[in-house]
Amino acid sequence: MISLVDVSKTYEGKHAEKVLAVKSINLDVQEREFITIVGPSGCGKSTLLNMIVGLLPITSGKILFNDELVVGPRKDVGMVFQRPLLLPWRNILQNVLLPIEILGRSNSDYQEEALKLLELVGLSGFENKSPWELSGGMQQRASICRALIHDPTLIIMDEPFGALDAMTRDEMGIELLRIWQERQKTVLFVTHSIREAVLLADKVIVLTARPCLIQEIVKIDLPRPRTSDTEFTTEYDTYVKEIRKMIYECGGKAS
Ligand SMILES: Nc1ncnc2c1ncn2[C@@H]1O[C@H](COP(=O)(O)OP(=O)(O)O)[C@@H](O)[C@H]1O
Ligand SMILES: [Mg+2]
Repeated sequence: MISLVDVSKTYEGKHAEKVLAVKSINLDVQEREFITIVGPSGCGKSTLLNMIVGLLPITSGKILFNDELVVGPRKDVGMVFQRPLLLPWRNILQNVLLPIEILGRSNSDYQEEALKLLELVGLSGFENKSPWELSGGMQQRASICRALIHDPTLIIMDEPFGALDAMTRDEMGIELLRIWQERQKTVLFVTHSIREAVLLADKVIVLTARPCLIQEIVKIDLPRPRTSDTEFTTEYDTYVKEIRKMIYECGGKAS
C-alpha cells in the first residue's frame, strides 16, 4: 500500500545550516498492517510520518501511496497526535465531525457514524459534553474517533498515548487493537515505549540516531487478539529485550 524508495529529508535552517534528518529510507507497508516505529529522540520519526502523509516535502527519493506518488497532503489519512487537540468551543460530537466539514461533506450524513465510533471507544453519552469535561484518556479516545470518521485507509499516530498516565496508556493500547481489528485499517504508530511497540505491532521498525536509517525491522509473531496478559509471556519479553538492546547499541535512548 505504501512504498518508500530511498527517501531522504534535509531541513534547511534560517542561517543555511542543514540538518539531514532522514537518510535513504526504503520501506514497504502492506494494507491492514500495524507498524510501530521506535528510535532515539530526535532521530526523525515525526519527519518520517509527516512525509508519508504528504504534509512535509521530501528532499530526494519517492513515496508511493496506493501506486500514486505522494506530492501533497492526502485526504485518505487520519491523524492522532500526542495531545488530543480538541476545539474547546465545540462539543465532542462536533469535534469528531470536524474532518467532514474540512472535506466539505455534509455533517448530517456522518452523524450516525460519529455516534457509532463514540460507542466503539466507550464514549456513548458524552457526545454533547465539552472537551474539558472529559479526562485525558477520554479526550484521546475522541481524537481517535475524529481520525476515523472519514474512513481513511491509513491512520498515523505520533506518540498518541505519550501524555497519558501508565494505566490509562495500557488500557488505550488494548482498546486501539480492538478498534484496529474491527475497522481493518493500516496503522503507523510512533512510540517511545518499546513495550507498547511490541504489544501492538505486526512489525516494529527500529530506527538509528539521526540521520535516521532503518536499523532493523522486527516481525512480532505473538498471537492475536493480544491482551494485557500478552505482556506476561516470555516471548513478549524476548522481543522487548532484543529491541532495547538494538537501540542502546546504536547509542540512543528510546524516545
Ligand atoms: N522544521 C525543522 N527545521 C529544522 N530541523 C528540524 C525541523 N523539524 C525537525 N528538525 C530536526 O530533525 C530531526 C528529527 O526531528 P523529528 O522528526 O521531530 O524527530 P523525532 O520525532 O524522532 O523526535 C531533529 O534533529 C530535529 O531537530
Ligand atoms: Mg516526534
